[in-house]
Amino acid sequence: MQEIDLFADEKTQLLAEAEQLRAEIRHHEYLYYVLDTPEITDSEYDRLMLRLREIENSYPDSIPADSPTQRVGGRVDSQFTEVKHMAQMLSLSNAFSLEELKAFDERVKSGLPAGSAVEYVMEPKIDGLACSLIYENGKLVRAATRGDGVVGENVTANVRTIRTIPLTLKVPEGEAVPELLDVRGEVYMPRQAFMRLNTARAERGESEFANPRNAAAGSLRQLDPQVTAQRALSFFAYYIVGENEQPRHSDSLALLNKYGFKVSESYKVVPDIAGAWEWIEDFNAQRQNLPYDTDGAVLKVNKVSQQHMLGATGKDPRWAIAFKYPPEQAETTLEDIDWSVGRTGVLTPTAVLTPVRLSGSVVSRATLHNEDFIRAKDICIGDRVVINKAGEIIPEVLRVVLEKRSPEAKPVEIPTTCPECGWQVERKGTEAAIRCSNPHCPALGREGLIHFASREAMNIEGCGPSVINALLDANLVRDAADLYSLTKEQIMSLDRMGEKSADNLLAALQASKENELDKLLFALGIRHVGAKVARTLALRYGDVEHLLAATQEDLAAIRDIGPKIAESAVTWLSVPSNRDLLERLAAAGLKMSFTAPETSEANPFFGKTLVFTGTLPTLGRAEAKTMAQDVGAKVSGSVSKKTDYVVAGEEAGSKLDKANALGVKVIDEATFLAMLKGEAEK
Ligand code: IVH
Repeated sequence: MQEIDLFADEKTQLLAEAEQLRAEIRHHEYLYYVLDTPEITDSEYDRLMLRLREIENSYPDSIPADSPTQRVGGRVDSQFTEVKHMAQMLSLSNAFSLEELKAFDERVKSGLPAGSAVEYVMEPKIDGLACSLIYENGKLVRAATRGDGVVGENVTANVRTIRTIPLTLKVPEGEAVPELLDVRGEVYMPRQAFMRLNTARAERGESEFANPRNAAAGSLRQLDPQVTAQRALSFFAYYIVGENEQPRHSDSLALLNKYGFKVSESYKVVPDIAGAWEWIEDFNAQRQNLPYDTDGAVLKVNKVSQQHMLGATGKDPRWAIAFKYPPEQAETTLEDIDWSVGRTGVLTPTAVLTPVRLSGSVVSRATLHNEDFIRAKDICIGDRVVINKAGEIIPEVLRVVLEKRSPEAKPVEIPTTCPECGWQVERKGTEAAIRCSNPHCPALGREGLIHFASREAMNIEGCGPSVINALLDANLVRDAADLYSLTKEQIMSLDRMGEKSADNLLAALQASKENELDKLLFALGIRHVGAKVARTLALRYGDVEHLLAATQEDLAAIRDIGPKIAESAVTWLSVPSNRDLLERLAAAGLKMSFTAPETSEANPFFGKTLVFTGTLPTLGRAEAKTMAQDVGAKVSGSVSKKTDYVVAGEEAGSKLDKANALGVKVIDEATFLAMLKGEAEK
C-alpha cells in the first residue's frame, strides 16, 4: 500500500513539474519568437525541453495537445480537407495613389451618418497568405487557408508548427478565457529564411521559389508537418472577426498582442486620410529594413460599429483598402551620360534618363559609378535600361534591356579630358576611377569648399552649394580661409541675399570657428581622412602644432590608421600652400585644438545603451552618436529590452513604437543635450 502511494505521489510531482516546465517554455518561446528579446540561451532552452520530454515519455497518456513538445506531431491526410469558414474571409480592394485613397475616404464617409469622424488604423501589408485560426476555450483547434473565402483548406497540423502562433492563448490570470475566437492574420516567410531555403534548394538541384509568398504557401501545404516545421514560417495577427470583436480595431490588435500573438509593431491609429498618407510615406522609407517583405499598406476604419454600417461588396469590405506601393523598378531610356568632377578630382558618370516614375518620385538621373561599371553592364547611349531605387539611395542602373537595343545606340565614350578644365584625365594602376590631372582644376576648389561648409564638416548653415557657387562666380572667395574674411556688404551683393541672410551667414561662420579640430581636419578634404580618421588624429595629437610635427611613421603607428592614410595626411600637411591655408584659418580665429570630452562615470549616459530614431531638430545622426560615445555610452541600431534610452526626433517610426511597447525611456534632443552636460534626467 505504502509503495503505491509513493508512486502516485511521484507521478503527481512529476506531472506538476511538467506543467511548470511547459509554462516556462511557453514564456521563453514568446520572448524569443514574438518579442525577439530572449532571456535565456538556446542551450538553456534545450535543457528545459529535454527535461519536459523525459517526463512526458514516462507518462505518454498525460501529454496535453498544447504542450510545446506537440507542435510537430499531427498528421495531414493525403489531401487537405476542406473547411467552411465561420465568417467569410474577405479580401481587399487596391488603391495606387493618394487620389484613390481620397476617393475611398469619400465612399466611407458617404456610407456613414453625415459628419461622422473616421479614424483609420494603418498596418503594413504583409506579403504572405491569409489564415484563419479558431481557438475554443483558449486552445487552437483549427487553422485554415483562405481558399475562395467561404471554404478553405484545413492546415492545422502545419500551422501548429509556427512558433509565433500560440497553441493556448496567453490569457492573464483572473481574466475570462474566450469561448470562441477567430483570429485572422498572415502566414509569411522572413526574407532570410526564404533566401536560405532557396540556396539549399538550388544546391539540391530543386526549383527555387519565386518569392517569399510562394515559399510560405508551398510550406504550409506540405503533407509532412516536419517539413513545415523546418521552414521558419511566422505569423502576424491582424483581425478578430465575429465574437470577441472589440469596439475599435486598435483594441482588437491590443487584445491579440495580449493573447501572445505577434502584431505588427508599425501599426498606428491616424485621425484622417492625410494622416494615412503621412504614414504611407513614412513606412515606405522604413519597409526595406524590415526582415520580411511588405507590398503595401492596409487602411482599416477603426470603429467597428462604423465597419458594420459599411459592410462589404462581394469579396471586399467597404471599410478597408490596400494601398500598393509603386514597383521599385522602372524602365526608361538612357539619353546621355554626364561626367562631373568631384572634390578629389574623380570624374563620375551619371546617366541622364527620360524622366520616369519610380517609388513615388520622378527620376531623371541615376548613378553609373565608374568606367568599369559601364563596361560590365554593356551600357550604350540610347539603350532602354532598368533602374531601381532602394529606400533613400540614389537610383542605379540595374541592367540594359538588350532585346530593345536600337541600331542607333552609341557606345559610351570615356572622356580623355576634364570637362571642367580641359586637362588630360588619368587612370592609375588598378583604380576604377579616372581623375583630372590638373592639381588646380576649378572643380576641386569648388567641391572642396562645398565639402568644407557641409553639415558633417564645419556645418556652416546657409552656405550650401548654390551660395558657394555664387561666391566663386563673384570672385569673393578662392579657398576656405576666404570665407572668414567675407563682409556683410560682399555677401549682400550676391543675388537673393538680403540683410537677414547675410547676418545669418556671418553668424554661422562665426559659430563654426568653435568647431573642434576633428571637424576642421575632416573639412580640409585630405584624401583618405574621413570623419573617423580625423577624430583619431585630433584625439591623438590634441592640436595642429603637434600634428604638423608628426612623421609618417608616427601616424602609421596609430591604431586604425594605415600606411596609405598616414602618407596622404603627411604629404598634405607638408605642401606649403596647405600650411599657408592652415595659418590663415588660425589667424581668422578658428579653433586649432581638440578638447577631449570627459568620459566620466558621473555622466548619466555612462555605460548606458542609446538608440537614435527619427530626425533630430539640430543634430546629425553621426554627430549625436559620437557625442553619446564620448561620454561612455553605447549606441545601438535597434531597440530591445536592454536599451536604456531612445532619443526620438521627428518622424520616429517603429523604433519609437517598440520603445513604448517595451517601456524603454524615450527622450528628445533637448533632454539628450542637457543630460550630456551631466544634468540629471528630467
Ligand atoms: S485585412 C477584412 N490586413 O492582403 C480583412 N490583410 O489583398 C481583410 N494582408 O487576403 C484582410 N497584410 O492575405 C489585412 N495587415 C493586413 C494584411 C492583409 C496582408 C493580405 C491578406 C488579404 C490580402 C488582400
